[in-house]
Amino acid sequence: MFLFFFLFLLTPYDEISATRTSSFDLINKTCKTCSDRSVVFNFTFCLSSLQEIPVSHMTNLQGLAIVAMELALQDATRTLSVVKGLLRNETSGRPLACLRECDMLYSDGVVTLVDSVGALLEGRYGDAGVWVTAVMEGTETCEEGFRDVDEVSPLTERNYSVFQSCDVALCIMNLLNSDALLESDSSSHNWYLLEL
Ligand SMILES: *[C@@H]1O[C@H](CO)[C@@H](O)[C@H](O)[C@H]1NC(C)=O
Ligand SMILES: *[C@@H]1O[C@H](CO)[C@@H](O)[C@H](O)[C@H]1NC(C)=O
Ligand SMILES: *[C@@H]1O[C@H](CO)[C@@H](O)[C@H](O)[C@H]1NC(C)=O
Ligand SMILES: *[C@@H]1O[C@H](CO)[C@@H](O)[C@H](O)[C@H]1NC(C)=O
Repeated sequence: MFLFFFLFLLTPYDEISATRTSSFDLINKTCKTCSDRSVVFNFTFCLSSLQEIPVSHMTNLQGLAIVAMELALQDATRTLSVVKGLLRNETSGRPLACLRECDMLYSDGVVTLVDSVGALLEGRYGDAGVWVTAVMEGTETCEEGFRDVDEVSPLTERNYSVFQSCDVALCIMNLLNSDALLESDSSSHNWYLLEL
């Protein structure tokens, strides 16, 4: 993915030596704080998705926000290709109107998430948050399209995943925006080292 480019650019060399332990602590703490704030938020999903990323990119909250946004973008892109696959399959028996709407929604979603990454990199957390929220609403609208015509959505799992990845990114940006440190401790000074 082209966004890894940003990650490498944005990681100062001196942070690459950060220990594995402190990165996992930051992820753990961030996911816990976010799940305490929302009943929908899935702590396990948050933990497992953020832990897949190379440790050197997870040394502070800004870095984590970029990682989370990239994961959301990957997830939406993957979903869009699933939708396009279903649209190409004339024998899938899925309602075309619903699939076309989802195609449009996820296409917009991918573009919106790219814009959100741009806003995030400029520190415009409020804008990025509004846009990510719109993408989450788009996943819901896609699901509702199937429900409205009494069809089983082939995208429910995709909705769950995109919705949750967006929620992780959104929560981290809200933390950055409110300037709320999760907890002040000896490692907290690390979290704002990354200048965006
Ligand atoms: C997360 O932190 C809590 C409290 O410090 C600890 O009990 C738990 O084992 C940690 N979980 C992971 C997956 O690191
Ligand atoms: C939370 O996410 C995990 C990992 O993706 C998943 O296995 C689990 O089913 C999810 N929990 C709920 C309540 O959906
Ligand atoms: C098309 O959909 C049918 C019915 O769901 C499925 O059996 C088939 O494997 C699909 N074909 C492709 C190429 O995805
Ligand atoms: C989409 O996924 C989210 C959780 O990630 C869930 O809260 C929501 O109910 C799902 N929407 C539909 C219509 O299934």
